[in-house]
Amino acid sequence: MKKMTLMVWVVGVSLLMISTLIFAEEIGKGAKITYLGHSAFRVISPKGVILYIDPFLSGNPKTPPDMKTVERADLILVTHGHGDHLGDTVSIAEKTNAKVVGIPELGRYLAKKGVKNVIGMNKGGTYTSHGIAITMVHATHSSSSTEGDQIIYTGDPAGFVIRLENGFTIYHAGDTGLFGDMKLIGELYRPELSLLPIGSHYTMDPKEATSAAKLLGSKYVIPMHYGTFPVLTGTVEEFLKLMKEVPQAKVLVLKPGETIQ
Ligand code: NI
Ligand code: MN
Repeated sequence: MKKMTLMVWVVGVSLLMISTLIFAEEIGKGAKITYLGHSAFRVISPKGVILYIDPFLSGNPKTPPDMKTVERADLILVTHGHGDHLGDTVSIAEKTNAKVVGIPELGRYLAKKGVKNVIGMNKGGTYTSHGIAITMVHATHSSSSTEGDQIIYTGDPAGFVIRLENGFTIYHAGDTGLFGDMKLIGELYRPELSLLPIGSHYTMDPKEATSAAKLLGSKYVIPMHYGTFPVLTGTVEEFLKLMKEVPQAKVLVLKPGETIQ
């Protein structure tokens, strides 16, 4: 009897350990992905490289107060020049000496603002730093920076495919409408995780983002660019409902400040 109890206990504990391991391995394979509200994300790679994508933080009503300032960053990726994406890029770069990756016209604009480590790249290109491969891809949107009554051209808007050291691949769509070549992004880069705007008005709405998820074929989708301002009317509830049509993808709804790993 005693032996039997011990066996059940050992088997039970082993199963628990195995399931914990599988669950822990499931999403980021050692990467930590934190949603900072709107389209801002922090990714900490398995080897500890810190990336920020579209770090709109200090002026972002959704960013938790304790996450509005950045102490360390290795790479900052900026999809386009609009203020709700460019955000705090200049001040974070100044403080952390991070490399800032963006399209060349946006890069020149940032260099003029005093950013020292600007990496200007263009669509179709891949830039590798710290063992992380960053591919710039298409986005259908506009891009500029506004200073007073002046509109400054900051090149084309873009998206990024980020391949971490362990192969885990993330697609950040930036601000975009739906486009058919998302299918090619899915086929070529096989992003396990896609970050898709759903708020409508300036970008895709939940219906279009659902089509995007179908084209991309990602295992996980995180909705972004919704709820920040009243004009962004697309909701997570609607997206979750529509995404039932895409059973291969799991929608991860992150509250600002929440991390998946
Ligand atoms: Ni925009
Ligand atoms: Mn935007």
